Amino acid sequence: MCGIVGYIGKRDVAPLLLEGLQRLEYRGYDSAGVVITSPKTPGLKMVKAKGRVRDLEARVPKRFAGTTGIAHTRWATHGAPSDENAHPHLDAENKVAVVHNGIIDNATDLRAKLVADGVEFLSETDTEVLTHLIARSQAPTLEEKVREALRLVEGTYGIAVLHADFTDRIVVARNGSPVVLGIGEKEMFVASDVAALVSHTRQVVTLDDGEMATIKADDFRTYTTEGSRTTASPTTVEWEAESYDMGGHDTYMHKEISEQVDAVDRVLRGRIDDRFSTVHLGGLNLDAREARTIRRVKILGCGTSYHAGLIGAGLIEELARIPADAEPASEFRYRNAVVDPDTLYVAVSQSGETYDALAAVQELKRKGARVLGVVNVVGSAIARETDGGVYVHAGPEVCVVSTKCFTNTVVAFALLALHLGRIRDLSVADGKRLIAGLRKLPDQIAEVLQQEGEIKKLAEEYAGAQSMMFIGRVRGYPVALEASLKLKEISYIHAEAYPASELKHGPLALIEPALPTVAIVPDDDLLEKNRAALEEIKARSGRILAVAHQEQEKADHTIVVPKNETELDPILMGIPLQLFAYHTALAMGRDIDKPRNLAKSVTVE
Ligand code: M6R
Repeated sequence: MCGIVGYIGKRDVAPLLLEGLQRLEYRGYDSAGVVITSPKTPGLKMVKAKGRVRDLEARVPKRFAGTTGIAHTRWATHGAPSDENAHPHLDAENKVAVVHNGIIDNATDLRAKLVADGVEFLSETDTEVLTHLIARSQAPTLEEKVREALRLVEGTYGIAVLHADFTDRIVVARNGSPVVLGIGEKEMFVASDVAALVSHTRQVVTLDDGEMATIKADDFRTYTTEGSRTTASPTTVEWEAESYDMGGHDTYMHKEISEQVDAVDRVLRGRIDDRFSTVHLGGLNLDAREARTIRRVKILGCGTSYHAGLIGAGLIEELARIPADAEPASEFRYRNAVVDPDTLYVAVSQSGETYDALAAVQELKRKGARVLGVVNVVGSAIARETDGGVYVHAGPEVCVVSTKCFTNTVVAFALLALHLGRIRDLSVADGKRLIAGLRKLPDQIAEVLQQEGEIKKLAEEYAGAQSMMFIGRVRGYPVALEASLKLKEISYIHAEAYPASELKHGPLALIEPALPTVAIVPDDDLLEKNRAALEEIKARSGRILAVAHQEQEKADHTIVVPKNETELDPILMGIPLQLFAYHTALAMGRDIDKPRNLAKSVTVE
């Protein structure tokens, strides 16, 4: 999704901005642009290009010097990808330049009024409306011009504004789309994502919704869109710049799958309490007395985070005996759900910025609910809007498709379930058993990853399929859902996930030799039931790839994963299927890190 980067200081700005844009490429985009200026040579110089950042770079003229600038990667919403629709957008006099993430909901009305007033638009974007509104403001300062314009717009935005008459500053504002300031030595950065900043500074200030900031080379100040000063508290980004690099792998996806041993070790670190056979979750802000009053748990997330939430709900119900379920946040927010004071709501998100999940949190908070976050990005919007929560500590996840964060989120839910369980009725013995199981995970993940060679061969064998079926039962069903999502996202093979128990209620009609089935078959109380499903598929000549704890006689191939405690089985069973999706897509020549039509953080409706 769209990305913003800006700089003000003494350095040559264009290479800095292009490097920042490259760091944001992982978010997904279709065009890019940059505008620069400097106090010595005022006036705005702009270059834009449809396509990749390297296409933009190729267009940047040799003489393109400046010390202040803003740049953008665009993910089309209003108007097709094109040079004209790429940001920044300038007014007719080339005085004001705006880059914008988000959507201006009343852009059509505002555009009509501006056109009636004689304004000529050069693009089809909603953003250009903002440029003209700022340019037409008669207010004396850039801050007031921006404020006046923002008063007229409805919708979401993270914006950065440059003005040829105020070259000593960049003005930024946030409402629903992230804006982070980076504090350097006599230089300041701004970006929509810390990924664009961390190679220069790790001291950041994250703006809140309704907040604006003015950044100058040696100074910054924050204030509300109404003009009152706010207190900015700089924080240090934990993640190193190197963690955003490919680290010798061919793709980020491969790197991130391979990082799971360390990532899981990290989410466990410092949280296990052997004395009471439980776990400590420092940021939960939920004491034992309150935890005992919870009557339901409702988990909300999108895509992979929703799937992790489904496993989390199962774990909470099993270990803490609290009725729990998960629902896509994107659905929940629109169905006027009954908000119950005795329900604990949990929002799950890798980025912490997914708009659907954030909107669900805001609606819940407005109605007085207690909401926790299970989030990867520290200081993200969901992390800040929730009453407490659990960080999943997966480290930066750059690839559009989520892998290590899925695994870490499920482990974080196992910790939460164990914590709630031990406050309620989970025995010391079960606590000990699960802690031992959690501790085994990193080594067992390493064992799964060692099978990559065989999984690659299997993937190459199945890569010709037009469509695939994924099945699992109870704990295995969310694993099937996630594995099918992974496959479709990067290979574009159509895939369906069904509870194995539902096969005979319809999808069995699809089974034939050309439709392979991937079956999750753990050694649990449902093993025989799952085997019966494999029999049913075999009887219809369907090909079967099983992920199991032992070779499955009815399957054509079995990927055998190490056995852990039954409740924790979903954690390990998902990992070989990440590799399976990866190698299937690779065999099909797909652009794995940049799957078509997808963006990393979906920060718009
Ligand atoms: O950042 P989030 O976890 O909130 O993102 C939610 C989904 O957009 C995300 O998981 C998406 O489904 C990924 N492409 C999955 O690989």
